[in-house]
Amino acid sequence: MKRDIIIAPSILAADFSRLGEEIRAVEAAGADWIHVDVMDGNFVPNITIGPLVVRDIRKITKLPLDVHLMIKEPENYIDEFAKAGSDIITFHIEACRDPKGIISRIKSHGKKAGVSVKPGTGIDTIKGILDSLDLVLVMTVEPGFGGQEFIKDALSKIKELRGLYKKVIEVDGGISGKTSKLVLEAGANALVAGTAIFGKSDYKKTIQELREEG
Ligand code: DX5
Ligand code: ZN
Repeated sequence: MKRDIIIAPSILAADFSRLGEEIRAVEAAGADWIHVDVMDGNFVPNITIGPLVVRDIRKITKLPLDVHLMIKEPENYIDEFAKAGSDIITFHIEACRDPKGIISRIKSHGKKAGVSVKPGTGIDTIKGILDSLDLVLVMTVEPGFGGQEFIKDALSKIKELRGLYKKVIEVDGGISGKTSKLVLEAGANALVAGTAIFGKSDYKKTIQELREEG
């Protein structure tokens, strides 16, 4: 039987002057979630979008909004992103002191909670919270920018995590029709892709290719 694989286009690579159209286009092309990269110029060197944009995107798509917080002290912004209409809120384990408190806060809004690990962060740092999570996001590039090269060392981490964790393992960074096969084989079941989707004209074809297992 074929597995259900979630494809989450990252709007970081979309044309922001036509953001609504771009989101409608990936929705029509078969995307499962919309991945929203929130960066604060502090946890990562780049600055992107905030809750106001999430609020307006919420009006134009029914797809789950998969919000990836690359911000320091994410506890200060959970309420705002939840109220803006996020469905899944993922924070970085490296960015906070009380991950259990953040997970409870996310869940108190009826939202799904995810945690993310940078390429250099081991699975041991999240072992104690796996039971309370809905998703783990394994970064396959250093967070901060789209269009970077996939870091192959992440594959062993995905395998290790799959041995411990049965829910959603999402991967993010440098995912293309080639690297998708590797991460799916390692045990991932949700793929974020920015450049690979928005950088080509046929969104449907790319999304189909990303779903194909090796
Ligand atoms: C990087 C972001 C990613 C990024 C992926 O910090 O978290 O979601 O948009 O972009 P690509 O698919 O271009 O590597
Ligand atoms: Zn992301």
